[in-house]
Amino acid sequence: MFPLPTAVKRSHILITLVVVSLIILFTLRPVSRPFYVPTRGAALDSTSLLILSAQEHVGLSVAGDTKSFDLPDSASPLHLIVPATSSNHHLCQLLLSAAILGYPSPTLINWNAPEDEDDYVQHLTKVEGILNHLNSLEPQHDDDLVLMVDGYDAWFQLPPSVLIERYHSLVRDSSGQYSRTGTRHLLVRRSSLDTVFFGQDKLCWPGGRSRAACWAVPDSTLSLQAFGPDTDHGIVEHNRPRWLNSGTIMGPVKDVRDVFIATLEKIRANHTENSDQFYFANVFAEQSYARQPAEVPTLSEEETVEIPDIPDGQRTEYHIGIDYESALFQTVAFYEDYIAWVMYNQSSDSMKSDHKHFNPYHHFALPEDLQDSSPLDTLPEKGKRLATSHSSMLAEALGSWSSLPLGVNTITKQVFPLIHFTGKKGYREMWWHRNWFYPYAGDLLRHKQSLEEGVGDAWTAGQEVKVIPWSSLCGRYEEYLFGQAD
Ligand SMILES: *[C@@H]1O[C@H](CO)[C@@H](O)[C@H](O)[C@H]1NC(C)=O
Ligand SMILES: *[C@@H]1O[C@H](CO)[C@@H](O)[C@H](O)[C@H]1NC(C)=O
Repeated sequence: MFPLPTAVKRSHILITLVVVSLIILFTLRPVSRPFYVPTRGAALDSTSLLILSAQEHVGLSVAGDTKSFDLPDSASPLHLIVPATSSNHHLCQLLLSAAILGYPSPTLINWNAPEDEDDYVQHLTKVEGILNHLNSLEPQHDDDLVLMVDGYDAWFQLPPSVLIERYHSLVRDSSGQYSRTGTRHLLVRRSSLDTVFFGQDKLCWPGGRSRAACWAVPDSTLSLQAFGPDTDHGIVEHNRPRWLNSGTIMGPVKDVRDVFIATLEKIRANHTENSDQFYFANVFAEQSYARQPAEVPTLSEEETVEIPDIPDGQRTEYHIGIDYESALFQTVAFYEDYIAWVMYNQSSDSMKSDHKHFNPYHHFALPEDLQDSSPLDTLPEKGKRLATSHSSMLAEALGSWSSLPLGVNTITKQVFPLIHFTGKKGYREMWWHRNWFYPYAGDLLRHKQSLEEGVGDAWTAGQEVKVIPWSSLCGRYEEYLFGQAD
């Protein structure tokens, strides 16, 4: 038997415990947060910084009527939300790419929730789960950006800084789409530019061409010859991307929340289809029709064309836009033949000058927003020195985007920040090793984890937020992810 500690000994133990916990508390490494804060104007000189510090506007003038539109704050933090009920190696492809590229820790929606047999319940659960999370964010996050990505068929290629800059250009350019189609007066009537961007589809799905969501929506911004002389004449591969895909959504929290509320109402009012995309697309169809009614198509006698029936006073404007050119997101269905991996440093000068004169379609130049940055920028300052001294192969690879294979949309020439495997799911296996980070994935993840607490972890949503560590989410898939399985 040990003698029981006396009161004095007990208080010594207590004091020691407190001191030890304080030491631990203060030496903890930074913990990654569930949102990413862009460094404001990092790539800008001091003069443009001055302008940036005020709210930015674009002014548009139509027949003497000038209207100014506020642009979203370019320093708004970004939140990442991912609907996923359990882990597998496909979810881990997304989580690994997010961790390596410096995305915020994702919040997993409906984690551990049972899959319901009933499609209706399943759709309600997904849309409701995301909406509940958006509702649970404090009002000060209303103007933050949120990115929703489907959990099991997507991964990132470029860092959040590029995605966010591209997003802001899309918002700014959404006014351009109106001047191009000669409908600028419509924009002037509205109170804001497009702010909620969805991915693009080359097929209107589900449902047929008689749906308003198929015919009443705006035209694609790609050129009429984008896919050659056969463009838009029936072969789906040759269609220009025109339709909404709901697997990727990005916009300010408050605007995305409104889109989800409207969609949830549509699911509740009349549930007929086994796809949440159907309902998002109906919200977009009503918005499009209310902005400018398109010509009702003439179809065969058996088909009844659905014409949006919008009751007086119903809100139709949700500031929804489509990322037609894959500046943010690249879908794969019917796009397989137009996605390639390009090493930009391989083009010789003579080829470049030839292409200027003879065949500009085949000329690939590294996009401007990747010229002055490198994958090294996804590491904290301290990490850059370590990474480069750690391994020369890593250092060389991370030195420039131009010496790495980058996935590119060969029609729009966009190097996409995210790829979304709609259609044939086998590409998730076939193309994983094409990622620029694949040969270094393990090294990069370990390196980042050594610098910062919580890299690769995810958060749960709901009343009690829990952190799920990388090791329990994806530890068992590391061999596959890092390419050591074969
Ligand atoms: C419900 O939706 C279907 C098509 O999805 C449509 O045919 C039907 O008319 C709708 N019903 C109501 C009551 O709006
Ligand atoms: C492009 O970069 C790769 C990887 O660093 C290198 O092996 C290759 O020699 C470079 N090509 C040219 C033409 O510089």
